[in-house]
Amino acid sequence: MKILLLGGGGREHAFAWKLAQDPGCSQLFIAPGNAGTAECGTNVALSATDFQGIKNFVLTNAVQMLIVGPEEPLVRGIVDFFQDDPALTGIPVIGPTAAGAQLEGSKAFAKKFMARHGIPTARYAEVTTQEKGAEFLKTLKPPYVLKADGLAAGKGVLILDHLDEAIAALETMLAGQFGEASRRVVIEEFLSGIEFSVFVLTDGKNYRILPEAKDYKRIGEGDTGLNTGGMGAVSPVPFVTPELWQKVEDRIIRPTVAGLSAENIEYKGFIFFGLINVGGDPYVIEYNCRMGDPETEVVFPRLKNHLSELFIKMASGLLDTVQIETIPETAAVVMLVAAGYPGDYRKGDEIRIDRRREGSLYLHAGTRPDGGKVLTNGGRVMAITSYGLSVAEAVARSVEAAADVHFEGKYLRRDIGQDLF
Ligand code: AMP
Ligand code: GLY
Repeated sequence: MKILLLGGGGREHAFAWKLAQDPGCSQLFIAPGNAGTAECGTNVALSATDFQGIKNFVLTNAVQMLIVGPEEPLVRGIVDFFQDDPALTGIPVIGPTAAGAQLEGSKAFAKKFMARHGIPTARYAEVTTQEKGAEFLKTLKPPYVLKADGLAAGKGVLILDHLDEAIAALETMLAGQFGEASRRVVIEEFLSGIEFSVFVLTDGKNYRILPEAKDYKRIGEGDTGLNTGGMGAVSPVPFVTPELWQKVEDRIIRPTVAGLSAENIEYKGFIFFGLINVGGDPYVIEYNCRMGDPETEVVFPRLKNHLSELFIKMASGLLDTVQIETIPETAAVVMLVAAGYPGDYRKGDEIRIDRRREGSLYLHAGTRPDGGKVLTNGGRVMAITSYGLSVAEAVARSVEAAADVHFEGKYLRRDIGQDLF
C-alpha cells in the first residue's frame, strides 16, 4: 500500500520509522517531513494544510492511505474534504472528521461533551466577556486556569497564582492574545495530582488501548520554567496500576467513544486523553485528536503491531478483530532542543552525530537536509529514544546517547522520569 503521512516533527519520524518496517507499506511519502523521515521514505514539499496540493499528489501518485500526524489539518476538515470529493472517497484518512476533531479544536466543545456524558473533568465556565469571567474566577481558589478555546499551538493555557493576575490575563486573552482562539475562554478549577497520557485508536464503535505515557512539559529540570511541546516522555508509567486503568476505561475511554457514537460524530483515528490522577481518581485535563509528541516516540517503539494492519481494520470498522501487542521494556525519550526554545530559538545550525548507540533511536523533530548536511530547523530538534528494564535505565541510555549529538546551543533535560524512579 502506498501511504502519505502528513507532518514533519518527531511524532512523524516515529510514524515513518514504524511504517518503514511495515510489510503493508510498499511506499511511504511524508509531507513535508524532515531530515529523519527522508531516510524512511520520500519527503514531499507540501504543507499539511494544503488540501488541494495533497489531493493532486494523492491522485498523481496513486496514494492509498493518508495518515494525519498533527491536529491542524484534522480541525480544518481534511477528513471531510476527502469524503466529500468523489475522486478521493474510498481512500482511508487516519483521523477524525472536523466534528470529532472539535474535541481538541474547541476546549468549550470538549467540556460540554464531557458534561453530557458524565466524564470526570475540572469544574469550569465558558466565557466571552470580562464580567462573566471575573465573576466565575471569584468563586474559585488559586491557582487559576485559563484556556483559549481554540488551537493556540500548545500555548493557550495560562495558570496564575493570584486573582488580580488572572483577571488581567483574562482581559488580554479575550482581547485576542491568541487571535480568534482566545475570544472565548474556558476557566477551570485547578486539579492537583500527577498527569499521564492515554492513547486509543477507535473506529467509532470499537477501541483499542495503546501503551500509556507520561510527558515532561516544562523547559527546566525539576519541572520548572515555561511550558514546551514536551521535553521528554516515558512509557509505561509505573503509577498507572490495574485499578487506575480500570477507572480510566470505565469512566473515561468507554463513555468518550460511546458518546461520539451516540452523537453521530464520525471518528476513525487516535484519541489522546491528557489525564490527571487526583487521589486515585482519573480526570480529563484535555483531549487531543491525534497522537502526542513526544509521547509517540515512546509509545510506537513499544508497539509490536504493524500500523498498516491496525489502520485497515480501523477504516473498515473491524478494530474488535485485532489485539494490541506491546513489548514489556520501558522506553524513554529525551528531547534535544535549540537555544532559546520555547521562546525565539536558533535555526540553521549543523547537526553532527559522532556515534550512534545500538538500541537507541535518533528521531528527528526540527531538522532539514541541506546537501549532505543536516541542519536544525525547529525548537525541538531531535528526540532520542532508548529502552531499559526500568525508567532510570532507559532515560540514562538516552541521556548518554545525547552526548554524541552536537549542534550549537543544544539543551536537554537530564531529569526525565526522575519523579518515577
Ligand atoms: P492543556 O493544553 O489543556 O493540556 O493544558 C496544559 C497544561 O496545563 C496541562 O498539561 C496541565 O499541566 C495544566 N492544566 C490544564 N488544566 C489544568 C487544570 N484544570 N488543573 C491543573 N492543571 C491544569
Ligand atoms: N506532548 C503533548 C502533546 O502532544 O500535546
